[in-house]
Amino acid sequence: MCGIFGLISKENLEIGEIALEGIKRLEYRGYDSCGICFQNGGKLTIRKVSGKINNIQEKFNIKSLSGHLAIAHTRWATHGAPTEYNSHPHTDCTGEIALVHNGIIENFMELKKELQEKGHQFQSETDTEILPHLIEDFLKNGASFKEAVIKTLKRCTGAYGIAVCYAKKPDMMIVARKESPIVIGIEEGKKSYCASDIPAILPYTRSCYILEDDELAILQPGEAKFYNIENGMNEILKEPEYIKWSVDDAQKNGYEHFMLKEIFEEPRAIRNTLNIKKEDIELFAQHLLSADHIYITAAGTSYYASLAGKYMITNFLGKYIQSIECSEFQNNLQGALEENSVIIAVSQSGETADTIEAIRWAKNAQKNIKILAITNIVGSSLTRYSDHFIITRAGPEIGVASTKTYIAQVITLALVALEIAKIKQEVSPEDLENYYSALRSTPTIIEQFLEKNTAYVKHIVTNLEKNINYFFLARGISIATAKEGGLKLKEVACRFIEGYSAAHAKHGPISLVREGFPIIFIAPPDETYERLVGNVMEFKARGGFIISVVVESDKKITELSDVTIRIPQPPTQFYNLLSPITFIPALQLLSYYAALEHDLDPDKPLNLAKTVTVH
Ligand code: M6R
Repeated sequence: MCGIFGLISKENLEIGEIALEGIKRLEYRGYDSCGICFQNGGKLTIRKVSGKINNIQEKFNIKSLSGHLAIAHTRWATHGAPTEYNSHPHTDCTGEIALVHNGIIENFMELKKELQEKGHQFQSETDTEILPHLIEDFLKNGASFKEAVIKTLKRCTGAYGIAVCYAKKPDMMIVARKESPIVIGIEEGKKSYCASDIPAILPYTRSCYILEDDELAILQPGEAKFYNIENGMNEILKEPEYIKWSVDDAQKNGYEHFMLKEIFEEPRAIRNTLNIKKEDIELFAQHLLSADHIYITAAGTSYYASLAGKYMITNFLGKYIQSIECSEFQNNLQGALEENSVIIAVSQSGETADTIEAIRWAKNAQKNIKILAITNIVGSSLTRYSDHFIITRAGPEIGVASTKTYIAQVITLALVALEIAKIKQEVSPEDLENYYSALRSTPTIIEQFLEKNTAYVKHIVTNLEKNINYFFLARGISIATAKEGGLKLKEVACRFIEGYSAAHAKHGPISLVREGFPIIFIAPPDETYERLVGNVMEFKARGGFIISVVVESDKKITELSDVTIRIPQPPTQFYNLLSPITFIPALQLLSYYAALEHDLDPDKPLNLAKTVTVH
């Protein structure tokens, strides 16, 4: 939900190019309009456009602009259409204060009315615009720049990550955070950067400060001072975090799109994630073993990873795990959250507003709840609000549609499941080793699949191009794969899909099936297979066009299918349990090529943003 980038430098430099590059690296957070403010010689210059970031270069040749300070913004509209006038930066009446914002100011209507009564003129429909006007008001009443920003933020409810500059303080930029991420990078004595996410500052530094909620930083060239918004007087000392990602991890490196690159990075993401510290996995397992009640919560793709993980863990734990979408967590458990529960929260970004709200609500219930988090982002909000966390090692994911991070989440949950099996000793040592060996083989299986089948999947898509509606059906653990595979096609190729239980589809959805209606069956040879054969026949009998994802040795469902996609893995229970990992790349590839077939940009699906920081 919106990306912020800011830079302040001791010397004048080609700041336009750097600012443009900065927001391009954050484009996955929103891409409906953008804007940049430059400061040069005590004067602010603002340029804004609607549409993609490249438009701003085409219209204003931003790269040619020099200066020593810039703040930039790429927007995912919440309040007001994605027009030029609603784009950030927003300014006050004098044009001396410019501000970019990620988040929502919930009480903006009251504040706007109050400011209008005082004579402030507004140029946009956004909630954000009240911020520079409030700062202006406090400055007029004698506050310093820092005091004016603090006083302004104290009047606001809601969420914000902001960067603000003031023409009369050309050597200073102020950034602040409440529930919307801000990271800060310093090139000592020379330059200071701020951004909504790490990839934007990665080319300049790997050591970054992560602003916490209710913190504010004053950036000057090559230095940062940190304060608490409630008590702005005393400086806070913060330690930087070292980021292991490399700049290359966040580049396309010859691939046409990030989505394709990130699918091909899945084997590496798995190998790295398999190296998560054993003690962390064991700690998660011990908490689940001793919990009275267990919930798992997440949104979107992370939720489907949770569904797969829930099956894997339950298989060995022998306790029910209740999975609840994070946005409905509180509604489901109001008055019913049990004492001594453990909640597993899964989020790639670690910033999804509904996931954070769910765990904070549970924590505040004072019922001895333990939060175990799985996220891909060091220092994210989720790590701060959880009791224990595991960082998946997928590396930065830039494509808006999650691919390799889904796999890394499922791998993490599989490790926890096998650790539980190990501790409980109900699975024979031989079988346990077979499970681990299957887990270690998953990167090779995916590599072999991608090598042998990428062109084939592309070919299938060309022949399916005319279809608008699809079913993705499965039973058991593969329902997670069906839902996630379907979500991918929906997101990037704008097809309407229903990811559903194959058995349950008879209770309604089957009425849609006509001659040629495409149905994708996810069919590993597990305990659900024989019944799934029956479901395939039911849909075939009604004219369905059957595409099945099966293992290479499959026979029955292959014979019934019009098209098969074959996963090179042995047909044993050990591999079947891990099929959410090995089967999903096929569906991700299918969605990728379907997006291209429809002339859509798979990295930037319509109306989506990668990190959803609003409720
Ligand atoms: O960062 P999170 O994993 O918490 O994000 C959750 C969802 O917003 C995310 O998975 C979304 O569904 C993606 N667009 C999936 O491709």
